[in-house]
Amino acid sequence: MYLTKEQEKMLSGEQGETVERMFRLLVRLGEIYGADKMIPVSSVQVAGVSYKSIGDPGLEFLEDIAAKNTKVMVHTTLNPPGMDLLDWDKLGFPKDFAVKQLRIMDAFKKMGIMTTATCTPYLVGNLPHFGEHIAWSESSAVSFANSVIGARTNREGGPSALAAAICGLTPNYGLHIAEKRKPTLLVRVGVELKSNADFGALGYHVGKIVKDGIPYLKGIARAEVDQLKALGAAMAASGAVALYHIEGITPEAEKMAPSGIEAIDVGENELQEAYAKLNTGKEPDIIILGCPHASLKEIANLACKVEGRHMKKPLWICTSRTTKDTATKMGFTEIIERAGGKVVADTCAVVAPIEQMGYKTTAVDSGKAANYLPSFCKQQVVFKSLDDLLEGRTS
Ligand code: F3S
Repeated sequence: MYLTKEQEKMLSGEQGETVERMFRLLVRLGEIYGADKMIPVSSVQVAGVSYKSIGDPGLEFLEDIAAKNTKVMVHTTLNPPGMDLLDWDKLGFPKDFAVKQLRIMDAFKKMGIMTTATCTPYLVGNLPHFGEHIAWSESSAVSFANSVIGARTNREGGPSALAAAICGLTPNYGLHIAEKRKPTLLVRVGVELKSNADFGALGYHVGKIVKDGIPYLKGIARAEVDQLKALGAAMAASGAVALYHIEGITPEAEKMAPSGIEAIDVGENELQEAYAKLNTGKEPDIIILGCPHASLKEIANLACKVEGRHMKKPLWICTSRTTKDTATKMGFTEIIERAGGKVVADTCAVVAPIEQMGYKTTAVDSGKAANYLPSFCKQQVVFKSLDDLLEGRTS
C-alpha cells in the first residue's frame, strides 16, 4: 500500500506512540483488504461505548489513550452508552455500572470526541454529504450513511473507527470505491409495507439471505426516512448489510440498476415468517421503542398516540439527548410521561443492562432490537407494529 512521507512518519512513531499504534491498525486492515492507499475522512462515528459491551478491558484501553492526551483529528461522534447519562439513578440503572460508564464517557470527551451518545448521528449534527468519505462504526448508521445519504464508509469496528478519528485516515477499499457499490441481489418486494415494523421484518428477512452483499430492492412505492433507518438497521443486524439501494428512492439506485444478478421475491408469506421467527415471547414486561434512536417525528407521533391514555406496561422511547431536549421543549416528553412512559436519552434496549433490571420479555417495533435482544439481553421478544404494541395486541 502506498503511504505518503507524512504517513510513513506516523508509522515510525514520530507522531507519538498512540498515533503509531492506531495507524498500524489501519495499515494492517488495508493490507488484509487490498487497499492501494489511505484516504482522508471527514467524519467518524465511534461504537463500542457501553460498559456492558466493552467491560473493564475496554475502559482501561480508552483511559490509557485519553491519559496520553491523544486527540481526534476530525469531527467524531459517539454511539449510545449503556444508560441514560443524567437519569440513570431514577430509571433504576445499577450504580456500579453507572460509575464505570461515566468514566468511559470522560475518556472519550478528553479525546475531543463529541459525546452525542446516539446511533443516529446524522440527526444531531454529524451529517455527511453525498459521496463524502467517512469512517463510521455502528452498523445501522453505516447503512443509513451509505444507502440513504450516499456517503462512503465501510462497516468499521469500534477500534478501527477510533483509529480513523485519531489519524484522520482510512484505508481505501470496499465501499469507498464506486465499483464495489454495485448490487449483488435483486429483491422484488411484492407486499405493501405499512409500519416501521414491516420495514424491520423485511430487513430481517433480506439480511439473512444477502448476508454481507448489497441488495437492490424493487417494488417499494414510498418509504419515510424513519422507515429507511428501520430497514437498514434490521438488514445490518440479521446480515452484515452496509449498503442497500431502493429503486426510485435511494440516491445511487438509478445508476446501480441491476443486471444479471440473482433475484428473490418477498411477499406476505415471507414477511409473516420473519415476524414469526422474531416473536419469541408473549406477555411483555416492558415496551421499548427507538431502535435506531427515535427521531423527533417518531416521538411526536408517539405522544399523539398516547395522549390522555395510561399505559399498563412500562414504556420507553430511546433517543439522543439533543432530540429529547427538543421533545421536552415541545411538550412531547410530558405527554408521554403523563401516559406512564419515559423518554430515555442516550442509551437503548440492547446496550442497556435491562436483564439486570428485572425485565425478561421486551416488546419492540424494531427488527434490529428483536434480532439482538435474545442474545445480548437474554430477553424473550414481542415484535409488532407500534399500533399493535400500544393496543396490547401482543400475541
Ligand atoms: Fe441504536 Fe441500540 Fe438499536 S445502538 S440501532 S438503538 S440496538
